[in-house]
Amino acid sequence: MADLLKLGVLISGSGSNLQSIIDHIEKGALGARITMVASNRPDAYGLTRAQQYRIPTAVVSHRDFENREAFDRELLRILQGAGVELVVLAGFMRILTPFFLRAFPDRIINIHPALLPSFPGTHVQQKALDYGVRFSGCTVHFVDEGVDTGPIIIQAVVPVFAGDTAQELAARILKEEHKIYPQAIRYFAQGRIVRNGRRVEIRDAGNHDAALSNPPPEG
Ligand code: GAR
Repeated sequence: MADLLKLGVLISGSGSNLQSIIDHIEKGALGARITMVASNRPDAYGLTRAQQYRIPTAVVSHRDFENREAFDRELLRILQGAGVELVVLAGFMRILTPFFLRAFPDRIINIHPALLPSFPGTHVQQKALDYGVRFSGCTVHFVDEGVDTGPIIIQAVVPVFAGDTAQELAARILKEEHKIYPQAIRYFAQGRIVRNGRRVEIRDAGNHDAALSNPPPEG
């Protein structure tokens, strides 16, 4: 187990991405293991998921701390105590301070339910519908000091259908999140991610030469 990449997964809610990562690990497909799941919310269902697999968990409630840095300091102590090498934000709804980011340079990744740089922030499925885009999707990216602004590692695209609700679109996107997040972690574990400033190269990833239009082409 010594050579498996040690993951610290941060959650705030349901943890379906956490579940997908666990499922891929159970299949032996990631080259990684989770040494800590931490939540800022004591009622996050993801904690129960982790406990079912005997993964160590911690609750660091942001309400117990005077400011963001004090919260981050405690989070950092817990993750470092668990020997974490890659921090994986999986539905973690807190902004991390530079203090925390400096402790894990190029070793914090996030998944976001939109095609960045479109629709950063929150309630993004509704924002995509309101804007009228024909495609949305999800993005795994490195975390930097901005909100959803870090270098992009992998994206997946889904169509937006007429009459979609935000919930329907979110579910369609989530299905792809559950594929690309484990994929990004695998890249990391395999040492295939090369960052050049904003641009991230994935070694030997090939090209997916497919174009989409929505509505689909006719004639
Ligand atoms: C996911 O859709 C994730 O992309 C999003 O929260 C959801 C968490 O679901 N994250 C963000 O919006 C981060 N800004 P999950 O708890 O079932 O994995």
